[in-house]
Amino acid sequence: MSDLYSQAKNDRLGFWAEQARHLHWHKPFSQTLDFSKAPFASWFADGQINASYNCLDRHVLAGLGDRIALLFEGEPGDSKKYSYAELLNETKKAANALIALGVGEGDRVAIYSPLIPETIIAMLAVARIGAVHSVVFGGFSSEALKNRINDAGAKLVITADGGFRKGKAHELKVAVDEAMKDNSCPTVEKVLVIKRTNTPVVMSEHDLWWSDAISAASADHEAKGFDAEHPLFILYTSGTTGKPKGILHTTGGYLTGAAYTHKTVFDLHAEKDVYWCTADVGWITGHSYVVYGPLANGATQVIYEGTPDTPTFSRWWEIIEKYKVTIFYTAPTAIRTFMKVGKEVVARHDLSSLRILGSVGEPINPEAWHWYSKVIGGDHCEVVDTWWQTETGSIMISAIPGAFKSKPGAAQRALPGITVGIVDEAGNPVIPGSDEKASGYLTIDEPWPSMLRGVWGDPERFKETYWSKFPGKYFAGDGARYDEEGDIWILGRIDDVIKVSGHRLSTAEIESALVEHHWVAEAAVVGAKDEITEQAVVAFVILRQDEIADAPSETDIAKILKDWVVKKIGPIARPREIIVVAELPKTRSGKIMRRLLRDVAEGRPVGDVTTLADSTVMSAINAKLHEGVTD
Ligand code: WT7
Repeated sequence: MSDLYSQAKNDRLGFWAEQARHLHWHKPFSQTLDFSKAPFASWFADGQINASYNCLDRHVLAGLGDRIALLFEGEPGDSKKYSYAELLNETKKAANALIALGVGEGDRVAIYSPLIPETIIAMLAVARIGAVHSVVFGGFSSEALKNRINDAGAKLVITADGGFRKGKAHELKVAVDEAMKDNSCPTVEKVLVIKRTNTPVVMSEHDLWWSDAISAASADHEAKGFDAEHPLFILYTSGTTGKPKGILHTTGGYLTGAAYTHKTVFDLHAEKDVYWCTADVGWITGHSYVVYGPLANGATQVIYEGTPDTPTFSRWWEIIEKYKVTIFYTAPTAIRTFMKVGKEVVARHDLSSLRILGSVGEPINPEAWHWYSKVIGGDHCEVVDTWWQTETGSIMISAIPGAFKSKPGAAQRALPGITVGIVDEAGNPVIPGSDEKASGYLTIDEPWPSMLRGVWGDPERFKETYWSKFPGKYFAGDGARYDEEGDIWILGRIDDVIKVSGHRLSTAEIESALVEHHWVAEAAVVGAKDEITEQAVVAFVILRQDEIADAPSETDIAKILKDWVVKKIGPIARPREIIVVAELPKTRSGKIMRRLLRDVAEGRPVGDVTTLADSTVMSAINAKLHEGVTD
């Protein structure tokens, strides 16, 4: 592994070209990187490649068709296996079905479906024909779905009647109907519906059953190569403004990053490992480390539809035991939940097959790291804490098993081929070891293959958001520090993005949802520390006195507004608390001082109020809280 570091250091572009050449190219590339139009980069631009071919055909042609690709575990207890040959066969049929529906190169397809094999087949089929998928997490509301469909201009929506979640059928087709009613998604021509829960659904003229479309389709489909920079997918994520951004990833570079990091960070031995990443395909982790990375590497992996507590908190551990999982990748919030449940639940299961444990989504506190290592890993596993983002496409900072000892709580070092730095406010590099508090802003200093290629439909926003704070460098939005040994510790977001159970939310997005309610005059949202979810949403609202003349009590108002946020965005954005206030703390220039609200939300004494336009505002909020009227 240390070879990789020196190889990448000596010839970074040569190193990446070599990683890319591990994939199958329909037409080989001769040019590695063109950054002449910085910050817009193109990688391997004169090459042609097909992502779906790399995930499927290549392995089957290499004689690995019988190897299991997916070990699917449904929440109600059903299970199903797909070999690479079977997955290829289904994907070819799905590709033909999409073509029959008029989907072509560059067309966008929204996918709003549970974590079942058909969803993965749908993604691979879309990629196979050069269309662009935009997967929308099933936990987003119909309104959030509508906005994403319209922003991408999707021609087709692939959904399911429902998915199983916490023992119940979570309806998805109903949400699609709601999103599309009154012609509110004018670009959508057809909706393909996968049958999963047998929930009754209304099938209108534009609706078609997935199974009918597939059974009518031929299983012959030859994948052609697309330009390396051909768009592969759009994935929406929250930023600092009210509107989510469509992060655009292209084919050759993205697949190179996903495959290389998946193999390296998890020390994958595809012929013997059983890999399981618990993420949903609605998030980037599911794209890179459930779909593209593992399948490009010919891995055998578990996918599980439901939640870890259904029917009991033993579920995940039963699955690990059943399939003898060797590599397990999850989020700190899940680990903290299990810490609370207690180690006895885990101890009832034989988890001795595990050898590598990964963590992603938020900083892992050392306590959770040790618990993960000891209770889940039985003290014999390597733990890798992986830092990356929707935008980076693949892991940027992580330990590599066998290369050096991993350190509890630290993301540690940039992977070979990746150049990161920490800078101060003025953009000057922070030097490791210079000071024990060598902290600042985390940057990525050279382009990398799986970097986002832009924000869908908004090139200016791409430049402005990521490349303007520190010219020439990609600014990730996180704070970080070096320790004495030069290892990197991620300190969390420095902007108004918050992390709830590893899910990324924008305070501005929740605020705009709140002020859309006719009772709300003004809203300020903060992320408050939470023992399990890392952060929780706490909203402060000013009500319109005229609108709430005969309104219910503040408790009812809070409940109604919480439900409103769920309707506007989805259950992941549900505020833990809504606090009705008369004023919000603002500076003289009118900026809301979230720092003070965070103090209140976290139960700390309120900090320095001297910059407030009206310093009595905070005492009023505090006094109000001590009356106990918070929820
Ligand atoms: C933000 C990106 C990357 C897949 C899941 C989240 C935080 C992510 C870590 C980690 C500390 C982390 C950062 C980052 N984050 N991984 N290992 N340690 N923080 O992707 O939704 O795009 O969120 O998640 O704050 O900026 P995302």
